Amino acid sequence: MHSLGFIGLGIMGSRMAMNLQNAGFPLRVYNRTREHAQPVVEAGATFVDSPAELASQVDILFTMLSEPRVVEQFALGEDGFLKHLKKGSLWVDCTTCNPSFSQHMATAATSYGVRFMDAPVAGSKVPAENGQLLFLVGGDAQDVANCEPYFKVMGRGFNHLGGHGAGAGMKMVVNLLLGNAMLVFAEALNLGEALGFSRQKLLDTLLPTPVVPAFVTGKRHKLEQENYDPEFPLQWMQKDLQLASVTAYEHDTPLPATNTAKEIFQLAKQNGFAQQDFSAIFQFLNETRSNQAGVKD
Ligand SMILES: NC(=O)c1ccc[n+]([C@@H]2O[C@H](COP(=O)([O-])OP(=O)(O)OC[C@H]3O[C@@H](n4cnc5c(N)ncnc54)[C@H](OP(=O)(O)O)[C@@H]3O)[C@@H](O)[C@H]2O)c1
Repeated sequence: MHSLGFIGLGIMGSRMAMNLQNAGFPLRVYNRTREHAQPVVEAGATFVDSPAELASQVDILFTMLSEPRVVEQFALGEDGFLKHLKKGSLWVDCTTCNPSFSQHMATAATSYGVRFMDAPVAGSKVPAENGQLLFLVGGDAQDVANCEPYFKVMGRGFNHLGGHGAGAGMKMVVNLLLGNAMLVFAEALNLGEALGFSRQKLLDTLLPTPVVPAFVTGKRHKLEQENYDPEFPLQWMQKDLQLASVTAYEHDTPLPATNTAKEIFQLAKQNGFAQQDFSAIFQFLNETRSNQAGVKD
């Protein structure tokens, strides 16, 4: 049995690690904020005081951090984990990163004799908790096969999409759809309210129609109650649109709608919505409209 490590116990990582722990795999964990590790430690995982120390003790290391800058700092920064991982061990990065960054990490890992796989996930807080994520995987077939038991515990399946960076690439495509769809729905809802329809009437009318993606129904209670406790924090949606934009630039592909959406999420981020769920983009637009409604000529 492999000895497993998990670094990054935020909304997603804490739940993924808990599923590994509950399945009985020997698990060592690290997180910047120690208290976020408490539930999985109480379930039996071992907290290790530094990423470097953890790396030296495991065969497979999962990371679920916020963004590429942080992943790079953990892997290659001062006392980064790459130089402490055993030769032939495997690093599986589940963080949503851009494909060229994942390829860069794969190259860095190889230089330390470590294997690498990008395996970002589709699915949010509840699927993470219920072990229903879908892993989008880029890497070598043998490494993917070695991880299958762990993917099965944390997810409903995996999709091996190609070599290093392929999982990250598909994740860019998925989240570009997600961010644009949420924003456009928010705009529609906002216009509907400006026309005098109640929010409930709009949601009752729009959600069953084929023009609204299924995930929006899962956001209904947030939109109704104006309680945007994060499942997927808005700041990471903005980050993903930024990474999609970088990726498009690298592949000489125009993304006009996505670049506009990215900047609207940036405005919302700067206006206090960073830590809220990304569906709060509706609240941001709605408050902007409400403020305007109060302005007299
Ligand atoms: N939430 C979702 O629905 C969802 C779905 C699919 C993919 N994702 C992706 O999954 C990744 C994690 O998302 P999340 O929702 O779990 O985010 P999160 O709750 O904000 O967790 C982020 C993790 O990164 C750590 N971190 C952030 N900045 C750090 C820094 N400067 N130094 C050290 N540690 C740092 C946090 O540590 P602390 O605990 O100390 O803050 C935490 O462990 C992101 O790439 C996101 O895009 C999220």
